[in-house]
Amino acid sequence: MGDTEGQTTYRVMVLPGDGVGPEIVAAAQRVLAVVGERFGFGLDYEEGLLGGCAIDALGAPLEDGLIERCRPCDAVLLGAVGGPKWDTTDPAKPRPEQGLLGMRQGLELFANLRPVRSFAALAHNSTIKPDVLDGVDVMVVRELTGGVYFGKRERVGDIAYDTMIYSEAEVERLMDYAFGLARGRRRLVHSVDKANVLESSRLWRSVAVRVAAGHADVELRHMLVDNCAMQLIREPRQFDVIATENLFGDILSDEAAMLTGSIGMLPSASVGAGGVSLYEPIHGSAPDIAGKGVANPCATILSAAMMLDLSFGQKEAARAVESAVEAALSSGARTRDIAVAGETVLTTDQMTERVVAALAGASG
Ligand code: IPM
Ligand code: MG
Repeated sequence: MGDTEGQTTYRVMVLPGDGVGPEIVAAAQRVLAVVGERFGFGLDYEEGLLGGCAIDALGAPLEDGLIERCRPCDAVLLGAVGGPKWDTTDPAKPRPEQGLLGMRQGLELFANLRPVRSFAALAHNSTIKPDVLDGVDVMVVRELTGGVYFGKRERVGDIAYDTMIYSEAEVERLMDYAFGLARGRRRLVHSVDKANVLESSRLWRSVAVRVAAGHADVELRHMLVDNCAMQLIREPRQFDVIATENLFGDILSDEAAMLTGSIGMLPSASVGAGGVSLYEPIHGSAPDIAGKGVANPCATILSAAMMLDLSFGQKEAARAVESAVEAALSSGARTRDIAVAGETVLTTDQMTERVVAALAGASG
């Protein structure tokens, strides 16, 4: 953070990545510039290479020294990584996703927050019935630096294995975070596991019970992950905070995204033990529409709103951005992924300008 002539300036590391990444990150930066002007702060950007673009330019998915360059920044804003160009089943070849996982691990971003809220304006755009979606407000807290994503893996001859491994300490810090969040919400934590089969889940469950004992004002419920996948669609309003391990959280949050109408709407924040946090949409690089200027920028714009709130403490500015996205949607602004038959489809830039106009309107 800097201070020039009385104005606070935030330093943000921007990692546009692959596919639609550069388009949606540019959209978020456009919104940030407008909101910064309105609320009296500036933004200073640095750029880094992560993902397939880094493989192309440098031969490795994570630019050398990038993690160290991120640390002193106020936040990291990421687009998306990956694409068919770099897809490989050869264990010896670099993959874009390794860059993202390296960032998460390197910056110790152990908790990934994925807020799932239904947008009234999109109630009819989801494949789920509107009355099921009405009032949904779930926070998925996904463990992000452990489990099967980081356990020992190997391909030996004609077999391959991955290991889901957790220490009590890893589960405890995630649970503590989830309970802390629930305290500011509806005070209910669903700890989601597969304790009827997996040893790591039984450890997960016992730690959840222990942590819950220190948070008497928050209710803990256990739910098996297969049941949770079903309950999210059957009655999503029963959930407040869902705390779960890395792979379960990856799968459940894509599913939960459909409660908002489109995966193009869901933002995320990855936070650690007080260091720099990383903000990214939960959707991928969407290579099929990359470069066409039609991607939905909302998830990245909403990720930038989470950055304003959690990393900069600019809560009013964050609410203004969220309201502007809602207002744009309410006024009928739709990108391809959230348009139903008969609705006018906007480009990424047009959608961004509708959000910007809503921001300006609100300030007038
Ligand atoms: C996500 C993505 C990543 C993950 C991929 C790109 C490695 O799906 O952020 O949810 O699996 O964590
Ligand atoms: Mg995912």
